Amino acid sequence: MGSIGESIPKRILITGAAGFIGQALAAALIQDPYIEKLILTDVTKPSTPKHSLQADPAVICESEAGDLTDKATCEGLCSRELTHVYLLHGIMSGAAEANLELGLRVNLDSMRLVLDELRKRPSRKPIRVIFPSSLAVYGPTSDSELITESTIPLPQSSYGAQKAMMETLLNDYSRRGLMDARIVRLPTIIVRPGAPSGAASSFCSAILREPLNGAKAVLPVPKALKLWVCSARTVVKNLVALADIDENKFAGRSRVVNLPGITVSVQDMLSALFEVGGEGAYHLVESVRDEKVETIVGSWPARFEISRSKELGLSEDVSLVQTVRDYITDYK
Ligand SMILES: NC(=O)c1ccc[n+]([C@@H]2O[C@H](COP(=O)([O-])OP(=O)(O)OC[C@H]3O[C@@H](n4cnc5c(N)ncnc54)[C@H](O)[C@@H]3O)[C@@H](O)[C@H]2O)c1
Repeated sequence: MGSIGESIPKRILITGAAGFIGQALAAALIQDPYIEKLILTDVTKPSTPKHSLQADPAVICESEAGDLTDKATCEGLCSRELTHVYLLHGIMSGAAEANLELGLRVNLDSMRLVLDELRKRPSRKPIRVIFPSSLAVYGPTSDSELITESTIPLPQSSYGAQKAMMETLLNDYSRRGLMDARIVRLPTIIVRPGAPSGAASSFCSAILREPLNGAKAVLPVPKALKLWVCSARTVVKNLVALADIDENKFAGRSRVVNLPGITVSVQDMLSALFEVGGEGAYHLVESVRDEKVETIVGSWPARFEISRSKELGLSEDVSLVQTVRDYITDYK
């Protein structure tokens, strides 16, 4: 079977579309001439992206508000003519740790509601579901350990546990032929624009974004801490590409893929800030240790093997300095 993109026009639903990745993804997808319709949804009505001058103006983009913990809302959205769904809605790591009930309700229960609607669609081709999981499914590793998709998950946060549970369900629904899921474990994505998120890793963007805006930022972890990060542009490029990967490449295999990123220390990030923003920006970052953040982020591995991603044709990430420059171009 070829890609859906080659055979029929794509009709895509993006949940969590008002969020950081949802907005960037929608802006990229709307330029795709094989897309017939984009439906964006979130608890508040997401902004719709603009076409570039080259884009086919026939792409229809709809936007609607809806709480996906509500069954009727899930039914309404999933009963549309769809070929693909990006399941981006969720409660991030720090917020899911602080509020177990909320994390369970959104990261598990609402996901289950959506997936059950999708798998029950009558006599239709299994829908492609792209699910962003996270490196937070893994537990602590030694500095030298290289993580692969076969490394046993051992989440050290409720967020990571909720992602791991969804991975299992999506693999099972795919095995049963009820859907065609692509589960991608994302690195920490930088540089997030706007307000800080509920993610424990929120500081990774804040220590670049705030000083570039002339504001102070707090660094809650040691500068030697290593992280696995990826630029917003690269992750969006890979999320777009995932929609068209031939299903045969997943046949009989786990649907889980570790997305490309780069291993950096916090000091590397500060050096990139110095290079792009200058000494003044660099000195706006103040160290104030936060044990809660350090415990969660410090449990995440920082070194990954990405041969599966490469085999699927996904793109490798760019340098930190390039990421910071791209953030300035895209968001400032
Ligand atoms: N940004 C990262 O670094 C990163 C890393 C790993 C995985 N991810 C995953 O990628 C996805 C998108 O991340 P993001 O950074 O754009 O997050 P985000 O917080 O910016 O966006 C998530 C969106 O989900 C929406 N949402 C929450 N509860 C909802 C509900 N009940 N009904 C409908 N919508 C609801 C929120 O309103 C928000 O707009 C998430 O699943 C996240 O876990 C992100």
